[in-house]
Amino acid sequence: MEDAEEMQSVGLRLRREGAFPVLVPTMGALHAGHLSLIERAKEEGAPVIVSVYVNPLQFGAGEDLAVYPRTGEADRQACEAAGVDIFFAPRDLYAADHSSYVTEEALSAGRCGRSRPGHFRGVATVVVKLLNLTQAATAVFGWKDAQQLSVIRRLVRDLAFPVRIVPVEIQRDRDGLAWSSRNRYLSPEQRERAAAFPRILAEAARRPDGCAWASAELSRVPGCRVDYVEEADGRLCGAIWIDKIRLIDNFPCGA
Ligand code: PAF
Repeated sequence: MEDAEEMQSVGLRLRREGAFPVLVPTMGALHAGHLSLIERAKEEGAPVIVSVYVNPLQFGAGEDLAVYPRTGEADRQACEAAGVDIFFAPRDLYAADHSSYVTEEALSAGRCGRSRPGHFRGVATVVVKLLNLTQAATAVFGWKDAQQLSVIRRLVRDLAFPVRIVPVEIQRDRDGLAWSSRNRYLSPEQRERAAAFPRILAEAARRPDGCAWASAELSRVPGCRVDYVEEADGRLCGAIWIDKIRLIDNFPCGA
């Protein structure tokens, strides 16, 4: 389904019939991490909607909007195989004169919000719009984007959205790298260097001096620039660049 109005009328009909949809919002280029969100969504026993929309509002100037992987047909097939009820892939969600935004002003400020000004305003705006369009009663988000998860939880609480947010633990590939659509940007050689990131962060999460230790260790990885390593929500969270590719990850502290 591509049409936003049609999505909303289907969502409203489902609600009238007593079926409360579960939303898995994504930007596509689906991978094992997304599939785990879908599996969790299915456990709710309600119609599962997967949205695929590369949201321009959450990309800053000079970021990767133009090259962000778009794998529409493969995504649709993956959702069909996973038993998703509705695959919602709108072409565009914003009118040319769109001028309304949702902002969360505390949790969005640090970490990724510091390096990517306007990012969480874009995320909050599109998530609210997707909730309104799908009429979801539950939405599933991954811990991979830990700051995004806390921003969404806060806005749902603050603005009294009748939506339950379900978090799902990070899925990792064999080399330990958290699944991410942006991993596609890594060459095999960059990927080898990037694999140091989860190794170091996992070890740091067990240490009392974790933030400083991880920053020092990561700086020794060739071509690695540390954006931040900070503790938040009981997790050690980090963002780095491998050459020009930005990666984020986190581990529960003390685990
Ligand atoms: O996590 C993502 O993929 C995106 O930030 C989201 C939640 C789909 C909003 O565009």
